[in-house]
Amino acid sequence: MQEQILSMLVDAAENGDICLSGSKIAEQLGISRAAIWKHMQTLRQRGAVLEAVPKKGYTLKNGGDLLLPGAVKFKTKVIGRSYTYMPYIDSTNLEAKRRARQGAPEGLVVLAEDQGAGRGRMGRQWHSVAGKGLYFSVVLRPPDMPLHQAPLLTPVVAAAVRKALATHTGLEVVIKWPNDLLVSGRKLGGILLEAGGEADRLSYGVIGIGLNVNLAPCDLPPALRETATSVLIEKGQPVRRRLLFQDILTYLDEYYLHYLAEGSGGILAEYKSHCHTLGRRVSLQDDRGIQVGRAVELAGDGSLIVQLDEGDITVVRAGDVHCL
Ligand code: BTN
Repeated sequence: MQEQILSMLVDAAENGDICLSGSKIAEQLGISRAAIWKHMQTLRQRGAVLEAVPKKGYTLKNGGDLLLPGAVKFKTKVIGRSYTYMPYIDSTNLEAKRRARQGAPEGLVVLAEDQGAGRGRMGRQWHSVAGKGLYFSVVLRPPDMPLHQAPLLTPVVAAAVRKALATHTGLEVVIKWPNDLLVSGRKLGGILLEAGGEADRLSYGVIGIGLNVNLAPCDLPPALRETATSVLIEKGQPVRRRLLFQDILTYLDEYYLHYLAEGSGGILAEYKSHCHTLGRRVSLQDDRGIQVGRAVELAGDGSLIVQLDEGDITVVRAGDVHCL
């Protein structure tokens, strides 16, 4: 019921109606005024800023930023078929994996306002700031995919999120191979793929997306201040997280369905055209130690092909490369 009320409030705010009257809600949902009042109190406790105007009704003041169920409008076919919102969790990737193992459907989105143990690639931590970022994970179950092909999901998702961010914010967003989203050379977001299943069949892929949206410089720990950024820092003004989130889900849905229907060719071409790493001198660490060369190509499986200074060509499937 609360979701329906919130959905009506968001629609009213978006349609330019200043107030949604209690009698309209009561009539549409068949509940009493007293019940509505109680739901409004709960919505306030969950973060909705609601103004009650005597004799007129209720106005939602922060609908553009609310990520609660009911507020988020899904215009998608697969992504967001099921949606879980949490004020706080250890890590949305861990939670999505727990649910995937218990049979959660493809398209489940788990979003948290804050994470206590956000995870990055290569065992790193992800810094989350309550209510200021977008931290969410999506369960994917592409049919007939062997486990070793799962890394292909990273460029599909990176290309989709890059497109959504660039379109929504107007910022010039590029991808640092394989999964960092950069603006002005600084990291604005990252993607973490974790997969489970048998060698011949992926059971689930969990794609975690972390974006610094409305973080101010002081929200970044000193160790990240030189290398990280946010939409707020780059644009000089906050963006409404719900609207950005909805656009990301829409592009994710479109790119994932395109990938399932047509394969990865077109999406990899788009990824390459926005990949900041290609053509640059890079250093990489492998079992031979630190090596230096030029990133020359992206392979069909999403790996990075590097022409080493000493002459060999090496294929980097996982791991870190640093642009020099
Ligand atoms: C990286 O840049 O190394 C990847 C960062 C991914 C962070 C996101 S935040 C939501 C999801 N939950 C996690 O624990 N990690 C991902």
